Amino acid sequence: MVILMKPASKSVEAAWKLLEDSILYYKGRPVGTVAALDSGVDPLNYDHCFIRDFVPSALAFLMTGRADIVRNFLIETLALQSHEKQMDCFQPGPGLMPASFKVESGGGGDKQWLSADFGESAIARVPPVDSCLWWLILLRAYFKATGDIALAQQADFQAGIKLILELCLVDRFAMFPTLLVPDGAFMIDRRLGVYGHPLEIQVLFYAALLAARELLLSDNDGEQYIKRVNQRLAALGYHVREYYWLDLQRLNEIYRYKGEEFGKEVANKFNIYAESIPDWLTEWLPETGGYLAGNLGPARMDFRFFALGNLMAILTSLASERESQQIMDLIEQRWHNLVGHMPLKICFPALEGLEWRIMTGCDPKNIPWSYHNGGNWPVLLWLLAGAAQKTGRTKLAVKALEVALKRLSQDQWPEYYDGKNGRLIGKEARRYQTWSIAGFLVAEELVANPAHLELISFKENTKGMTCVI
Ligand code: GLC
Repeated sequence: MVILMKPASKSVEAAWKLLEDSILYYKGRPVGTVAALDSGVDPLNYDHCFIRDFVPSALAFLMTGRADIVRNFLIETLALQSHEKQMDCFQPGPGLMPASFKVESGGGGDKQWLSADFGESAIARVPPVDSCLWWLILLRAYFKATGDIALAQQADFQAGIKLILELCLVDRFAMFPTLLVPDGAFMIDRRLGVYGHPLEIQVLFYAALLAARELLLSDNDGEQYIKRVNQRLAALGYHVREYYWLDLQRLNEIYRYKGEEFGKEVANKFNIYAESIPDWLTEWLPETGGYLAGNLGPARMDFRFFALGNLMAILTSLASERESQQIMDLIEQRWHNLVGHMPLKICFPALEGLEWRIMTGCDPKNIPWSYHNGGNWPVLLWLLAGAAQKTGRTKLAVKALEVALKRLSQDQWPEYYDGKNGRLIGKEARRYQTWSIAGFLVAEELVANPAHLELISFKENTKGMTCVI
């Protein structure tokens, strides 16, 4: 079904122009987009091209026939992958992709080079675990949009894909198929109690594995990797669906869980205590809705709702069809909390009081209902539109776009909004934030032409799913 959109409004035209202005050129070629073009404030590192921020820009370019920028980006960032990374003389394993890069110039301006940040300059020195995952997802989107598989099949790209897989699939001190990461290793790049096995990383990991499988050549070496990828996909898919899922029925089970169970065949595998169920949840969970919990570890279930993880779970079919509908039901029924005056809440609810002090380390930027701690992020609009299209709930995407259109352009495309319902422009939000602009444009494109969904959605993984863990 193609929904015919009204002719592009002035704000939409202006948004395309702003996206164009954000393009970063390197040796005369477009290679990415800067994070923000807010001339009124110190750019810090917002004049860099962030890998994760470039994703919606790239999708907007791919959807409008500008694949060259994405191709250049993939080539340049692949070259950065082998860049020497050091922090206190420690070198993280190869395969890591930078959080961001910048075009530097010298020698009278005619010499240019790219400098990358692998987390060694980032605030709190957080490692960008999500960069290499997004890179794989984007390489596959580029292939889907252009049909150009030759790029991914080049020897350097095949080597790059394998390096990422090595980094992610290596045996560590882990009991679960999920990736164990430190706090702030993804879009939420500050301390927020999202260490351990956060949903956001697990879903991106799942998508990256699906993408790698599609892109790897099935020569001898490639087959070995594909085998490992299939095994991990099956285990990871089972684990997340089985243990992260939360609905009223599951909540009832957790409420009556017994603790301290020893042995293999126990119901409460993670030793979750009913007392850890937060008060807000029992009232908040609707009869027909559900979602994947934010994190899971020993005696720890993070009951917060995280938007990116849940929406990507729909796009990647990590959530089953039924669960996907339930996630959309939740968003529809808790619209005021999750969408409010600006789509979409990054996580719900905010950490407050003592919990805020302990979990964020008293971070003044992440105060309750601000920034990562329950702020509303316009960039998430593209994920909402994609998930709505995939589940046949286009009306929800249209409704969210209408909400966004009312304010985004008028407010000069802020990075995030504050308040329980996203009514205030974020306290320290940048204006002209590129991924707010691109996220909005991609959402518009997805609603106008659902065929674009193919770039970012995946069919249910059936390989190896019969394995019992
Ligand atoms: C903030 C966000 C991060 C983003 C960066 C650039 O640090 O938390 O996710 O990549 O800004 O926009």
